[in-house]
Amino acid sequence: MEYNVKDIFNSPFAVFYEKVINKISSPIQVDRWRKRLIKDVLKEVYSLDVVVDYCSGACNIGKLLLSLTDSQPLIVNCDISKPLLNLGRRELRQKSAFVCADNRFFPIKDSSVDAVFSSFCVRNSPEPLRTVKEVYRVLKPGGAWGILDFFKIQKRTFVTAFNNFVFRSFMKLNSIFIPSHREAIDYLFYSIENFFTVDEFSKVLEENGFDVKLVRTYMGGVANTLVAIKREV
Ligand SMILES: C[S@@+](CC[C@H](N)C(=O)[O-])C[C@H]1O[C@@H](n2cnc3c(N)ncnc32)[C@H](O)[C@@H]1O
Repeated sequence: MEYNVKDIFNSPFAVFYEKVINKISSPIQVDRWRKRLIKDVLKEVYSLDVVVDYCSGACNIGKLLLSLTDSQPLIVNCDISKPLLNLGRRELRQKSAFVCADNRFFPIKDSSVDAVFSSFCVRNSPEPLRTVKEVYRVLKPGGAWGILDFFKIQKRTFVTAFNNFVFRSFMKLNSIFIPSHREAIDYLFYSIENFFTVDEFSKVLEENGFDVKLVRTYMGGVANTLVAIKREV
């Protein structure tokens, strides 16, 4: 099945998702994962002058980051969706840049970034390996990459099956009420099934110049966060 990911995230669905679904689900669950990830990354970095949020969407990471640190970093928000970047631009008033760019090719200098965040990002990349290499390129040696995503389930237990059922039912409800959004929800499930397991992804990071410092598991493995450090050579 072919999905046009760029169109999905530039469609009215993306704005609906951000303004309605995210506003409901984030305070209950996802913001907890985002905050945990940000705190884990903050523990690993020496300085915080430049931060890139890959697939920033409406800048949810940037907003939380500013609430969790006294540093005043330049936050570069990169995304392929202009409507979502515009939503973020309205709320993130701190010194920030907004770049409409694909997550395989970002117009950012080599080894210039202290920390990269990518929440629900690499899974959406047409070429996840290129995205990994792009993060490696822009990070300073010793810089940290915080990743949050829905990974392919690697071990089916009762807890995982239950959480997966809750997650899928919640998402499917949206396509029942708004049938035009079915393609986006179908794409979400498709992208998870075709993504790495968290162990496979950790291996990819290790093979591409990162040391994986921390992996956290949520909802029995439905979602995971990872912190990876660019190896000093
Ligand atoms: C589920 S949203 C997550 C947004 C944000 N990181 C958050 O946690 O709220 C996924 C984001 O990835 C962006 N995206 C998808 N494919 C992309 C690509 N190839 N390059 C850059 N951004 C992409 C979408 O436009 C969307 O904003």
